[in-house]
Amino acid sequence: MALSLVVLASGRGSNFKAILDAIAAGKCGAKVEALICDHAGAPVLEIAKSAKIPIHVIEKKDFASPLAFDEKLLALLSQHNPGLVVLAGYMRILRSPKIFEKYRRRILNIHPSLLPKYPGAHAQKDAFDAGEKVSGLTIHLVDESLDAGPILYQEKVDISGCKSAEEVSEKILAREHLAYPRVIDKIARDEIKI
Ligand code: GAR
Repeated sequence: MALSLVVLASGRGSNFKAILDAIAAGKCGAKVEALICDHAGAPVLEIAKSAKIPIHVIEKKDFASPLAFDEKLLALLSQHNPGLVVLAGYMRILRSPKIFEKYRRRILNIHPSLLPKYPGAHAQKDAFDAGEKVSGLTIHLVDESLDAGPILYQEKVDISGCKSAEEVSEKILAREHLAYPRVIDKIARDEIKI
């Protein structure tokens, strides 16, 4: 049976689309039950609408604290009870211990650097500014630490020819789109144990 996913995303949604496309092409043994997005108006919402994926939007401004936000997030996750929670460009830190109680080792994130190098929201620019010749991507389990949970998969990307941080981002992103659905598929097949 397909591994059930709930995807959390904040913006553009190209990784979300790559996952949907891989599922549609029979290359990823998963099913997206819902998208949860923390920005009304984010382009990722249009992708979900076109694919007829149920959408939940929850915005920071409607909650008194990050913990209150995460309580609502947990309630939404519980509605779908996914096998895997997939962060795809979700730019908030998960803070509720209850989320980790319920989904420990079942929350996945993709990050555009070779962690532990360059955690945070500007990983590609940080690697470019540091003059790195090689950067890459990391797919890891999410825990209470920032971008530092157990690593499941890493891939190096040659960025030596890149003339800007944007070029670095594009080059890494193209590889993210291949790697993320593949790793999710391997988890679904139990070829990667979580
Ligand atoms: C991706 O490059 C992803 O790795 C990164 O945000 C981008 C989202 O793009 N995530 C992080 O930096 C997490 N710390 P997308 O919305 O087009 O998938």
